[in-house]
Amino acid sequence: MCGIFGYIGKNAVEMCLQGLKLLEYRGYDSSGIAYIKDSSLYIQKSIGPLNNLEKKALQAKGDIPIIGHTRWATHGAANLENAHPHTDITQSLAIVHNGIIENYTELREKFQFNQLASETDTEIIACLISYFYEKDLLQAVIKTLKLLKGSYALAIIHKDYPDQIIATCNQSPLAIGYSENQAFVASDVHAFSGINLHSVILKNYEVAVIKKGKALFFNQSLQSIEKKAEKIFIDHHSISKQGFQHFMMKEIHEQPITFQNAIANRFSLEAGQIFFHELQDLKPLLKNINHVVIVGCGSSWHAGLMGAQLIEKKAHILTTCEIASEFRYKDPLLSKKSLVFAISQSGETADTIAAVKIAKEKGATVVGICNKENSSLEREAEKTVFLHAGPEISVCSTKAFLSQLAVLSLLANYLGSINNSLSKEYISEYLHELVQIPLKIQQVLSDKDQLEKLASKYSHYDQMLFIGRNLMAAASLEAALKLKEISYINAQAYPAGELKHGPIALLDETLPVIGLCLNSLTLEKTVSNLMEAKARNAPVICFTYEGSKDIPSVFQDTIYLPPTIDDLAPFTVCTATQLFAYFVAKKRNCNIDKPRNLAKSVTVE
Ligand code: F6R
Repeated sequence: MCGIFGYIGKNAVEMCLQGLKLLEYRGYDSSGIAYIKDSSLYIQKSIGPLNNLEKKALQAKGDIPIIGHTRWATHGAANLENAHPHTDITQSLAIVHNGIIENYTELREKFQFNQLASETDTEIIACLISYFYEKDLLQAVIKTLKLLKGSYALAIIHKDYPDQIIATCNQSPLAIGYSENQAFVASDVHAFSGINLHSVILKNYEVAVIKKGKALFFNQSLQSIEKKAEKIFIDHHSISKQGFQHFMMKEIHEQPITFQNAIANRFSLEAGQIFFHELQDLKPLLKNINHVVIVGCGSSWHAGLMGAQLIEKKAHILTTCEIASEFRYKDPLLSKKSLVFAISQSGETADTIAAVKIAKEKGATVVGICNKENSSLEREAEKTVFLHAGPEISVCSTKAFLSQLAVLSLLANYLGSINNSLSKEYISEYLHELVQIPLKIQQVLSDKDQLEKLASKYSHYDQMLFIGRNLMAAASLEAALKLKEISYINAQAYPAGELKHGPIALLDETLPVIGLCLNSLTLEKTVSNLMEAKARNAPVICFTYEGSKDIPSVFQDTIYLPPTIDDLAPFTVCTATQLFAYFVAKKRNCNIDKPRNLAKSVTVE
């Protein structure tokens, strides 16, 4: 993971810190900067979030080259020695790295680098460049790259080159931006700031020599290559907490709007029709597919699980949902009649991108479902359906997850309509219920006090178990993930019917069981499972519809949510469980927006 940033221009330190702030979603275990000034190399590092570095960073005047890094630890603990930038033994050059060098131990032994200052795989790169350096930095970099196995995005500065940064990458994203007075390099184009910027995305093994106002590109044979630059304007105005204590709470509260953004311009209520303009060219193929695979990780996988159930049910097409990190190593059965939906909020998740590449190799058509424009997923997928949820800053996904669900719900009905599995009347009824969902999400938000009270009552438990059936089984997985990642409670989830096949052995008064009973088809069955938990002394909490009958009064707590049809119930219940997780984490004084050990974008395997 990690975020790398480089800049040449005025107020270099300030610009670099600002860029790193926008990359902190990639890791925040430690951070550091390095710059060249008056032929000397300066390095500063800090442990913990970027604020710690900001407090002590020196300002340097003039147009200087600077590189910076925000780390998500892979090799070596989060301490100052392992924080980037790393340098060679002569302290002549500094590098920042995102990725993993798989053969670093072998290289260390081969070149007998015995006096390394850190435990990282990165330092070996700095040592190798220095080893090969004979007054030509570009040559030395290229000789080094030829030895590296693994993934990398690198930015390199050297004392002998006070006006340039060298950047290169393989399997890790890297963008270059430049205008007359400045030049940028970053893991993500959204970390640039400025107007009239020309931007270029580096391809694997390409090397850029970046100077103020220009960038030159080379292949690994040192031949110059032409790359077409695109004009971009990056606007950061929407990144603020807007009065909320945490980004997570702000983003949960945005959901009535972001839900509407996800479905906007994709249906006509009057005509009872659904359309995805971005998939228009694929329509003939979509009518003929015989297999849909959804791939994603974490919350995106959970959205995919629900999407798969919906597509199979509505479009009558065999649909599976796979964790991208598993899919990529299983030699999947795909053909020209397979459609793959790759879901990723960030569009940068390494496992999901790898899964997309495999699906393409096997002849499948890949459609991305993504929140970020200009992302790796958008570049790899044949078409991309955007969520339009706006930047999601809190590490745990809330509004993007709900938008993924909204898009998948519409897509399932869209596929069902174009292959004639669903009637116009059916679609019309569904759409009439769909447009009510923002109001129902708003109602859950307005009633959040009941969830805060519930959280206060149960926040001292160290474990919790969520159960549900049908779409509520995947909603349980998502509820457990939210809770565990921000409150560090050992929260697990099972399809309710599985309880009796093993997990029931865990139950006693120390393990609250939370049943998501918002699937009318299976409500009674899930309630019976909750009764079984109750009989084993587990505290039982039931989330259900307002007006649902037969919820036993013996349960410790019941949370009532606005009623809707089964297929749309995930929107209300997931909002409620997000709020529950938030309030539990708050009660436990956890770092809600930046939970320990996590990063917003997972760009390593
Ligand atoms: C959970 C969470 C993660 C992400 C996962 C995939 O709250 O945020 O599980 O869902 O890392 O990320 P994307 O969607 O960016 O591919």
